Amino acid sequence: MRMDVLTLFPAMFEEVFAASILGKAKEKGIVSLQAINFRDYSNNKHNTVDDAPFGGGGGMVLKAEPIFAAVEALISEGAAKPRVVLMCPQGEPYTQRKAEELSQESHLIFICGHYEGFDERIREHLVTDEISIGDYVLTGGELAAMVVIDSVARLLPGVLGNEMSAVTDSFSTGLLEYPHYTRPAKFREWEVPDVLISGHHINVANWRRKQSLRRTWQRRPELLTHVELTKEERQWIQA
Ligand code: ADE
Repeated sequence: MRMDVLTLFPAMFEEVFAASILGKAKEKGIVSLQAINFRDYSNNKHNTVDDAPFGGGGGMVLKAEPIFAAVEALISEGAAKPRVVLMCPQGEPYTQRKAEELSQESHLIFICGHYEGFDERIREHLVTDEISIGDYVLTGGELAAMVVIDSVARLLPGVLGNEMSAVTDSFSTGLLEYPHYTRPAKFREWEVPDVLISGHHINVANWRRKQSLRRTWQRRPELLTHVELTKEERQWIQA
């Protein structure tokens, strides 16, 4: 999969794309990650990428031309039609389901603004998706794009060492994850639940499912409306 980011601050992505699991995925050739400065696509002599809004008022607006030129250059390089994702607080709230959907694509282009708005024609005629990572305003779309890129990349086959971990983690099952423990079995006066050291796989699986249900019920009850529960499970969490 290929993911390109259009930004005025490509240096922000250097470490993120090189480190840890994303860096390894890149090395393994599973994903190609690139941050591109769309200022390089401005066609005026001062390399400006923004201008005052028509109609007046404060602030600046990112111009359509450099962003269209950068996206069109990327499209002409690639074989498949990319999804063009605008990072903005007005976008669709980001979820694990959206991450799964995007992970099926072969090419994603992210557009990040900084401080200012976008010329509406970018939204209307270039962008296929608008994503918000939460109801708060960041200084730019870069951190939001990193969140989306990271959560999409980890779903690609071969990226996570343990293939199961993307399947059982919070939200993939529709539930929050159950608690984990590792050695020692007793740390200070706190002991690991007996069932986890019992070696009884079915009891362990039942315990984990119950813990996931309880945690979801306590912390994020609204998630349970999307999950199929047995009658016993429903009775159990409400007890
Ligand atoms: N740009 C600024 N704030 C944002 C947010 N919450 N999500 C996505 N992009 C943004």
